[in-house]
Amino acid sequence: MPTKSELRQYLAFAEKLALGAGKILSGGFYRTKRVNYKGSINPVTEFDLKSEKYIISNLERRYPDHTILAEEGTGTERDSEYCWVVDPLDGTVNYAHGFPVYSVSIGLQYKGQSIAGVVYDPEQHELYSAARGQGAFLNRKRIRVSSEKNLKRSLLATGFAYNVSTARKNNLGMFARMIKQAQAIRRLGSAALDLCWLAAGRFDGFWEYYLHPWDTAAAILIVEQAGGKVTRIDGRKYSIFDKEILASNGHIHSAMKAVLTGVKR
Ligand code: IPD
Ligand code: CA
Ligand code: CA
Repeated sequence: MPTKSELRQYLAFAEKLALGAGKILSGGFYRTKRVNYKGSINPVTEFDLKSEKYIISNLERRYPDHTILAEEGTGTERDSEYCWVVDPLDGTVNYAHGFPVYSVSIGLQYKGQSIAGVVYDPEQHELYSAARGQGAFLNRKRIRVSSEKNLKRSLLATGFAYNVSTARKNNLGMFARMIKQAQAIRRLGSAALDLCWLAAGRFDGFWEYYLHPWDTAAAILIVEQAGGKVTRIDGRKYSIFDKEILASNGHIHSAMKAVLTGVKR
């Protein structure tokens, strides 16, 4: 396990890269963007690619021995205990439509465990960060999850995968059940920000199916370091390669799990 001071250095570098990538993204936000498609629905703009190029080239230069896993496929697998997990633009649909909710996410895993994570929202100038064992921060101020214990008073977030029309778990039934049990549910369109807003106490819980490692690698650490809980929907230990996630302030976790799994309490 890296030392505290090594962890601080990794985090500081990730913050620098997230701020730099955020500048690239906000610079393109009010322009007309060229949008291509991966498959029939999953969009990618020229700024997803520019942001990834900036992040990867800097990571490669500084940590040439580390593995990098990045959404647009420009990372390299290496024989290393360290793996940087990068989403250069989380919320591409929002971004392409000029809807100002999107982020950059950079996580660092050591032997499969998230040890540092940064999520940056360039439109609100909000930088979320955490290193293992050192708490979670928003613009360098400590954040904590909410203390809400009652699902009926809870504000939740969720999302729907690009393959919602064909997916076995399309989340529509779960959404219908949950909305009757919670105070309200929002769908922001950036899973990394959903999780950070949970860490900051704005949301009390979040769940989604079919997310990818780069959506959650940084933000799950931010949630945990803010005192929250992250599992699979069935309550088992979550890995960033899992296809389901349930995150909460901890207090409403079992109530959410019961609703999502259809168990009567
Ligand atoms: C998407 C966002 C969205 C979630 C999708 C993700 P992208 O990431 O996180 O909130 O619902 O499943 O794929 O494609 O904008 O990086
Ligand atoms: Ca994403
Ligand atoms: Ca993305």
